Amino acid sequence: MFSTALLTTILLALSVAANPVVQVRNSHISLPLSRRLNTTSAHNLLRHDVQRVKALKARAKAALGGELSFEEAAVIDEQVDNQAVTYIASIGVGTPPTTYQLLVDTGSSNTWVGATTAYARTSSSVQTSNRVSVTYGSGSFSGTEFLDAVHISSLVIPQQSIGVASRSSGFQGTDGILGIGPVDLTQGTLSPATSSLIPTVTDNLFSQGSITANEIGISFEPTTSDEVLNGELAWGGTDSSKFSGSINFTPITSTSPSNLFWGINQSVRYGSTSILSTTAGIVDTGTTLVLLASDAISRYQQLTGAVLDNNTGLLRITSAQFANLQSLFFTTNGVTYELTANAQIWPRALNADIGGTAGNIYLIVGDIGTPSGEGFDFVNGFAFLERFYSVFDTANRRVGFATTPFTTATTN
Ligand SMILES: *[C@@H]1O[C@H](CO)[C@@H](O)[C@H](O)[C@H]1NC(C)=O
Ligand SMILES: *[C@@H]1O[C@H](CO)[C@@H](O)[C@H](O)[C@H]1NC(C)=O
Ligand SMILES: *[C@@H]1O[C@H](CO)[C@@H](O)[C@H](O)[C@H]1NC(C)=O
Repeated sequence: MFSTALLTTILLALSVAANPVVQVRNSHISLPLSRRLNTTSAHNLLRHDVQRVKALKARAKAALGGELSFEEAAVIDEQVDNQAVTYIASIGVGTPPTTYQLLVDTGSSNTWVGATTAYARTSSSVQTSNRVSVTYGSGSFSGTEFLDAVHISSLVIPQQSIGVASRSSGFQGTDGILGIGPVDLTQGTLSPATSSLIPTVTDNLFSQGSITANEIGISFEPTTSDEVLNGELAWGGTDSSKFSGSINFTPITSTSPSNLFWGINQSVRYGSTSILSTTAGIVDTGTTLVLLASDAISRYQQLTGAVLDNNTGLLRITSAQFANLQSLFFTTNGVTYELTANAQIWPRALNADIGGTAGNIYLIVGDIGTPSGEGFDFVNGFAFLERFYSVFDTANRRVGFATTPFTTATTN
């Protein structure tokens, strides 16, 4: 029997053959994402992001079979801030489905619910004998593994492995995580310890034939409001209405530990001055800022004249320095992506939300906390992804970027 997706593809192919004027649109399913900024707490965005990096590195080390040092293990118990800026998707679980608001995370690969809205067991819920736990730096969860029907847009995955939290921290206001990172990151998250990986929702949609390509396209947009429905997650293809020009791909880096994530090789220059020569880092929707190795940040700080702002933890510049701010250029696999001066600053209308002062100008480029050469020397977080469409291609182990109508927009 043909699946609907396959049939659609065949029909499209037939109509193209019959009439070359018909435009082929790659078939994909998409889900709207709402961007939310939590304004109830004075956040230190940088501290949040740096904690996350430490936890990602610790998880990578554990996945590679390494022993965690005391400092790395301590990250796991550290008191953490709630997520500050998040993109949320509505996902249904069960039969009939209960809707959960899940954080979209390319830096982890487990999907779990139960942080706020309690998990409702239905006729399709099957509890396994496994425990499951993940640490994020911005929080953690532990609970039980269930197999259940997961509804994404109009599609259903009949038996998706999900975590049901019995304990979680750092996720107030959301119900859990939709983990869309590479499947290898699920290594070691089940106990009793098993070497098996947990197929992600993307893997299952692909293996059951609901999507014809094992890839995800993500569209974010910059905004100056606290909460807005302005993102889109597309499975199985890309949404050409969300980007301009072509998508350029870069292979997943071979450098550890970035190679466990959506990691790439990239160099960075400020204006015409190189501040970070080609090195490995990651692309991550769970990080708010753009983080660069400490040595690159000191060069950036020197070139821009920025000072560290004690209230927000971010770099701050004067209006005169802003008037002279050069673009920051990110080069990967021979293609350069430009973050304009406007794209390098926090939306001024939202200064108060991060503990800043009205009228001040804060930079969204921050210090990753370690020198370059660690195999994890940058994170292209939201601040970057809100300016470029991104594609996470599991089948071909590569990441793609394209410009959008917002790449050079003056919104901040
Ligand atoms: C915002 O963060 C606070 C403190 O971390 C938390 O209690 C609250 O539930 C969050 N609100 C939303 C809407 O996420
Ligand atoms: C990335 O950089 C590393 C280190 O220089 C190099 O070995 C590798 O070939 C580069 N490319 C990829 C795709 O990893
Ligand atoms: C920022 O904090 C540090 C350490 O707490 C202090 O030494 C410094 O004077 C503060 N700077 C400003 C501008 O308040």
